[in-house]
Amino acid sequence: MKNDATQGQFRRLSETGRDRVSFTLDGQLREALVGDTVMTAVLSQAWQLRVSEPGGDKRAGFCLMGACQDCWMLTESGERLRACTTFIVPGMRLRSKPKTPDEA
Ligand code: FES
Repeated sequence: MKNDATQGQFRRLSETGRDRVSFTLDGQLREALVGDTVMTAVLSQAWQLRVSEPGGDKRAGFCLMGACQDCWMLTESGERLRACTTFIVPGMRLRSKPKTPDEA
């Protein structure tokens, strides 16, 4: 499969009629479906969950069951959450990288 950065890693194959939930990712408005985990919400429309520090490697989770800690993401308020075990909630404000000193 070709790496297409304009689409997400995950594809929805069923249950696409669930109600929609709005959230932001790096300040951009996004939509997920009620009952999605943060991982599903983000990776259905993005190629990675976050950029690791240091090094800048793209991370998209590994175990998908809360054990590896590869899926940590940040909220706008600076809290860390595990994307594979946290459900998306309306208005959630997510970041794929920490704030820069200019944003703090
Ligand atoms: S993907 Fe391993 S803890 Fe979330």
